[in-house]
Amino acid sequence: MKKVVFDEKERLFHLKNDQMSYVVGVLMNKHLGHFYFGESLNEPLKQSYFRTDQNKGLTANVFEGNSSFSLNNERLEYPCYGTTDFRQSAFDILGENGSTLSDFKYKTHRILSEKTPLTGMPCSHGDAVVLEIELYDDVMDLELTLLYAVFNHAIVRRTRLKNDGDASVYIDKLMSGSIDLPDNHWEMMQFSGDWARERAIYTSPLRPGIQSIYSNRGASSANHNPSLILKRKETTEFHGEAIGVSLIYSGNFLAQVEVDSNDISRLMMGISPDYFKWKLCPGKCFDSPEVVMTYTSTGLEQLSKNFHRFIRKHIIQDKWQNRVRPILLNNWEATYFDFDEDKIVALAKEGAKLGVELFVLDDGWFGNRDSDQTGLGDWFVNTQKLPNGIKGLSEKIHDLGMQFGLWIEPEMVNNQTKLMKEHPDFLMGDPSRKISHGRNQYVLDFSRDDVVQHIFDQLTLVLDGSHVDYIKWDMNKNITEAYSRQLPDDQQGEVFHRYILGVYKLYDMLTTRYPNILIESCASGGGRFDLGMMYYAPQAWTSDNTDAIERLKIQHGTSMIYPLVTMGSHVSAIPNHQVARMTSLKTRGDVAYFGTFGYELDVTQMSSAEKNEMTEQIKYFKNMRRLIHTGDFYRLLSPFETNETAWQVVDEEKEEAFVAWFKVLAKPNEAIKYLKIRGLDEHDLYYVTGYDEPISGSVLMNHGIMIRPSFNGVEKTKAPIGDFQSRVWYLKKANNSQ
Ligand code: GLA
Repeated sequence: MKKVVFDEKERLFHLKNDQMSYVVGVLMNKHLGHFYFGESLNEPLKQSYFRTDQNKGLTANVFEGNSSFSLNNERLEYPCYGTTDFRQSAFDILGENGSTLSDFKYKTHRILSEKTPLTGMPCSHGDAVVLEIELYDDVMDLELTLLYAVFNHAIVRRTRLKNDGDASVYIDKLMSGSIDLPDNHWEMMQFSGDWARERAIYTSPLRPGIQSIYSNRGASSANHNPSLILKRKETTEFHGEAIGVSLIYSGNFLAQVEVDSNDISRLMMGISPDYFKWKLCPGKCFDSPEVVMTYTSTGLEQLSKNFHRFIRKHIIQDKWQNRVRPILLNNWEATYFDFDEDKIVALAKEGAKLGVELFVLDDGWFGNRDSDQTGLGDWFVNTQKLPNGIKGLSEKIHDLGMQFGLWIEPEMVNNQTKLMKEHPDFLMGDPSRKISHGRNQYVLDFSRDDVVQHIFDQLTLVLDGSHVDYIKWDMNKNITEAYSRQLPDDQQGEVFHRYILGVYKLYDMLTTRYPNILIESCASGGGRFDLGMMYYAPQAWTSDNTDAIERLKIQHGTSMIYPLVTMGSHVSAIPNHQVARMTSLKTRGDVAYFGTFGYELDVTQMSSAEKNEMTEQIKYFKNMRRLIHTGDFYRLLSPFETNETAWQVVDEEKEEAFVAWFKVLAKPNEAIKYLKIRGLDEHDLYYVTGYDEPISGSVLMNHGIMIRPSFNGVEKTKAPIGDFQSRVWYLKKANNSQ
């Protein structure tokens, strides 16, 4: 049940679904107050339940003769600067006269039964009830609209500013959403890291003042994921309150919490205001990206479930929603740049024999690309390596009974390329200054339509007529020297946002022309793992770090927000190329099962025993993947807290489950452990791998599956021994219920 109710007498909006309520009200100065976001409430609701006028010392007050109405003491829905609220504002607009003051008053609202898409930007879609609250500033003639969409598992917010006046104004900040929570007893959970160690979980209690994460790199970044969770100190996976926010955007962002002296916690999220200034001409509109907000009172497991279900249904396009993803073989770690058609076909042939469904040709097939020094931007095939072109190769791969995938990095250019020679002006950067490189490459100015069109035209020459089923869209350099040669001086603050709009435009052009191509996004691994990308590319390369043990943390952290079906996960060679660790093929496979699944190694070099094991893994995953890609994910043990990790997936009907347990370092003489399973039907019996008789769901959930220890070096059980162990179980409901 989703609804939006407006109580005219109380001047209150109640947005509600089965799990959460969100309450907004019109204050006495006609600004909006934020009254509540939490467990779903029953009406009637009154303003007096949520707010009270307070007469406090050293405040500035709005109305003369009234010392108890100060915006600084209110909980606000979209706070403004300069008129009695001294905290951080959600927006800043510079007017024609140089003033940043504003007074946006409630004007009208609309409740709609359908959501309209955002043009040119990724957005949520599907069944929702929509509320649009229109505010107006009479002095600047600006219309500020706060838009809400109530879905089953989340509430989505965004903001639109329209210039109805005669003069241009400049937007310095326009957050997608802001809420003022009534207390500060929260911990902030963020997902931070760097290349090859993305989305590690960091949790810290809120303190007075501002705490924030952001990106000013032109991409959402591996350093801070554009998502944040606020949880109570006592909240665990299985109990307690939590609020989660995630931005549907891939560019610069800010997520910030400010705790004020009244213990109010102001949470806001949107495009980073740093280096941002948007000129809004008369008659024009500016739309912020959307922020997804969700709440639970029953633990992080449920919060993630809300995100996962929401993303699978309302971010990922309908076409890919319930489709299991092909098992792939990628040649990157097998060959790097050193390949030709024979080598590729040999790999593919071996892959086909093992049961692989999609062969992906990674970097190095185009231009003069024999190293990372050159080639990017020249999107024509290197016929020395591939004499039959992509067309010929893709047909050969298809003849082997596999789909064919291709790597591209459309936003970049190298020196000594045809593109750089012919269009040096396509570069992002101030021509009067030196431009910095990263991995020897430079960023193209995607804020320009002609640049986007040029790259599109190049790519269509390759893709038209070839049999390409999948694209891996990479991006390996963040934006430096953000400056566009085509924009006037007073619009240079628009470059970062216009750049990402250009990226979205190319995504849109490619997905429109090739609707059947599955796209996996990538940015040196997980450097752009966000909901904006997921709208176009339903899966993302989670990390360049393919070590199974490292992946425990990376995939665990990623799963806090994103569902398994979005996470690219491959089995790679040992010693591992990032950390040189040796792990068994079993452990590597068991970890990679929790994602899209594939291989990234030289299959021609594997022993026949290894090939047999891989064939079994592929068979196993084919049977398991509908469950893994569409079921609900549970985290049973955290690699951030213990030597062990345990994960689980259960389908919505509780018919079957897949459980995995991993131990990083072996210990001697350990006690027997019991792993309590979640989400089963307590009244039913389940067949469990390794047990002859079915076991009651209630026993599995309350007592658990037994994990017998295996001593180092001495095989006491059939399970693998030593460091980096893993075990998996498949649970299937028995027909006869208890
Ligand atoms: C990035 C990607 C890798 C691979 C290389 C190719 O690092 O994350 O998976 O595609 O580029 O250059």
